[in-house]
Amino acid sequence: MTALRVGIAGCGMIAGGPVRGDRPILGNHAQACRDLGLVLAAAADPDAARREKFARYWSPESSWADALEMIRAAQLDLLIVATPPETHEAICLAAVAAGIRGILCEKPFTGHAPSAERVRAACEEAAIPLVVNFSRRWDESHQELRRALGAGELGEPRLVTGCYTGTLRGNGSHLVDTVRMLCPGDWTLEWTSQLRGDDGPVALAMRAGAAQALLAPVGDAEYFVFELDVSCTRGRARLFNNGNEIHLERPQSSVEFPGYRYLQRSASLPEGTLPRSFTRALDELCRAVAERRVASVPPIELIQSLALIDAVMARAQQREETIS
Ligand SMILES: NC(=O)c1ccc[n+]([C@@H]2O[C@H](COP(=O)([O-])OP(=O)(O)OC[C@H]3O[C@@H](n4cnc5c(N)ncnc54)[C@H](O)[C@@H]3O)[C@@H](O)[C@H]2O)c1
Repeated sequence: MTALRVGIAGCGMIAGGPVRGDRPILGNHAQACRDLGLVLAAAADPDAARREKFARYWSPESSWADALEMIRAAQLDLLIVATPPETHEAICLAAVAAGIRGILCEKPFTGHAPSAERVRAACEEAAIPLVVNFSRRWDESHQELRRALGAGELGEPRLVTGCYTGTLRGNGSHLVDTVRMLCPGDWTLEWTSQLRGDDGPVALAMRAGAAQALLAPVGDAEYFVFELDVSCTRGRARLFNNGNEIHLERPQSSVEFPGYRYLQRSASLPEGTLPRSFTRALDELCRAVAERRVASVPPIELIQSLALIDAVMARAQQREETIS
């Protein structure tokens, strides 16, 4: 079988560009192409220095300053969209118009639910599989945790707490989507902090049935953090180290305090699996193309996370207006 030809729009960090120091980050799209034996046919970036560094490292067949020109001319089977979110809609729609066979779009998809829905609908209309790389969705340990929680192994979810650095539509979008992935339900917004503008660090509270989630940014942090605790009626899951360490805790009777049951670690899921999620996401796209089906995480599911984030932003701005 002929290997699929892949084009990557954007030659930055997540594409695999050696943009910080001289080596790519662990887990990136160019490496995923290599892992799966796909042809890296083309890469595009208007930034000449980035484009050239990427080309030197990964040797695509051709490099382009203009992603839309690459899409029209490079005879691609698959497109990976690894550009800033505000460019995702135009690039995805151009790929659909050019007759691409499959698209992998980086998180946060287009960033907003209405534009993401336009891309989803265009792909559906043209029967083009679309994979959105909210990485935790494709990570084996997160998938195992989802299975365990879904099977009720820790009881019923009651309280989810999480913290993140950066903005809600950036790093925080992973957090909102991960809550929805691990604890599926009809999450409705109950409270937000204030914010001016369309993105930034925002705290929020939301509820789905008896489960409550409190997610908050760490302001002015001189470090990166992304952590989540899922407290259930019979135990707790704790996600540390950007989700690369996941512990399951269950209650144990206390020797020192008879009658009390405290949480103790009972299992750890495989660590450091997140970098492989890039390959798993691309592999899913290849399978969906071969089998002519929708991706196993349907884009509509991710659009619902974006709709929740849009609602957070709308409410956070209203608070600002009321107070000022
Ligand atoms: N899945 C994850 O865990 C994860 C992590 C980080 C970033 N991301 C996402 O990946 C995407 C890229 O992030 P990054 O960190 O690689 O950013 P980056 O700034 O390192 O790279 C983006 C590149 O896109 C280029 N670019 C801008 N407009 C373009 C266009 N129209 N056509 C082609 N290239 C264009 C820029 O010049 C830049 O080199 C974003 O959507 C981001 O949210 C995902």
